[in-house]
Amino acid sequence: MRISILTLFPELFEGFLSTSIIKRAIEKGKVSFDIVNIRDFAKNSYGQVDDTPYGGGAGMVMMIEPVVDAINSIKTDEAKIILMTPSGRPFKQKIALDLRQEKHLILICGHYEGIDERILNYVDMELSIGDYVLTGGEIPSMVVSDAIVRLLDGVIKRESYEEESFKENLLDYPTYTKPASFDGFDVPEVLLSGHHANIEKWRREQARMKTEKNRPDLLD
Ligand code: ADE
Repeated sequence: MRISILTLFPELFEGFLSTSIIKRAIEKGKVSFDIVNIRDFAKNSYGQVDDTPYGGGAGMVMMIEPVVDAINSIKTDEAKIILMTPSGRPFKQKIALDLRQEKHLILICGHYEGIDERILNYVDMELSIGDYVLTGGEIPSMVVSDAIVRLLDGVIKRESYEEESFKENLLDYPTYTKPASFDGFDVPEVLLSGHHANIEKWRREQARMKTEKNRPDLLD
């Protein structure tokens, strides 16, 4: 898979691309990233990419031209173009599972008060990572890329994501590691029993209890 990210702040991606599982996925050739600086497509010599909103109001709006030129500079026939915006569709594990089938994703990071609305004529999907407003789409684009890349074949062990949160609308069951006792808090007895059927049953119950407590909406 290829992931192209269009941003005004390319330096924000340095740590993300050079660490841990994402770094390994790139080294193994499972994914490649291009980080495209929208400012390189500014229309004047000051590198201007934003302007005041028509109709008045606070803040600046990103101009459409540099963004569309940036898209055109890397677009392929198979590219799926996604705009990161708090007014997008809520990003869910199900969407990550769908998007991992794509060959080329282009993620556009908005900034300031957003991008000129006409950008919607050039994108296939708008995605939000949650009901809060961040300073820009950079962290959301890392969230979305991270969630997708770990699902690509050969990036992490399949078992690691086949039994995790949001599968069958349940959160993950609790996990523990050594030591078996810490500061008076013990690992649940059943996990030390070696009895697989009981462990499975306990995990299912715990997943349901955690979902009822933290995310009752998932059980509706
Ligand atoms: N840009 C700013 N806030 C965002 C959010 N919650 N999701 C996606 N893009 C954003």
